Amino acid sequence: MRVPCVETFGCLVMDVLMTATNPPLRTLLRGAGALFWTGSFVVHRTGAIIERAAREATTLDALRAEEAQCERCPLYEFATQVVPGEGRVSSRLMLVGEQPGDKEDLAGRPFVGPAGRLLDEALERAGIAREDVFVTNAVKHFKHEMRGKRRLHKRPNAYEIDRCKWWLERERAIVHPQAIVALGATAARSLFGRVITITKVRGQALVLADGTAAFVTIHPSALLRIQDGAERQQQFLAFVADLRKIAKSMERKS
Ligand code: URA
Repeated sequence: MRVPCVETFGCLVMDVLMTATNPPLRTLLRGAGALFWTGSFVVHRTGAIIERAAREATTLDALRAEEAQCERCPLYEFATQVVPGEGRVSSRLMLVGEQPGDKEDLAGRPFVGPAGRLLDEALERAGIAREDVFVTNAVKHFKHEMRGKRRLHKRPNAYEIDRCKWWLERERAIVHPQAIVALGATAARSLFGRVITITKVRGQALVLADGTAAFVTIHPSALLRIQDGAERQQQFLAFVADLRKIAKSMERKS
């Protein structure tokens, strides 16, 4: 009986031994052969993965250039440009929104429209400087539908979120933040890989699969949709309180 890696010298020796030995020893040798084959397969695959990683961007600038070429889902066809994450590579906190809006699509920068202004105000009130935060989105192209001449935001679907997760993971690998905040359900879906009910986990200290601390709160756009002024103010303060709590918990850990 030949083991799968007969080309290697080790396996040839084993072949000879197999024919010359008794059944219990043969079983043992067969096991050793399988182990050897699995080992060489793993080593080969790991090598290929490492080699690929070495060719991939390791700086935010290089990553941005790669993102600009993205055709991983059809959204790129209808957007003006890709909107990559923005911030210092040394940022300890990463905020993840849903997708760029109309203004972001035109500017090529995240959170520069009305939701961004609200986010800036909330960060300031929570004592977090925007320059210290890496701000990005779960989906990097603006998804919309035309209503007359207006481009109306359309929520990305699970396929688009999953396809774009590739870029978010690469941003995370480069920035390596101490904590990540999912702003709304789309970001939470991307980060946790499953549907998350915001109200169930809001403000809790969670952990992502790779051990990074994570928090979930509402998206600032949700605040903009609240019609009642008093209710909107109350929800805004609750959002600020979430951010403040996150900042405090990071202070404790550093
Ligand atoms: N909403 C988002 O989720 N991201 C932005 O960049 C702007 C609005």
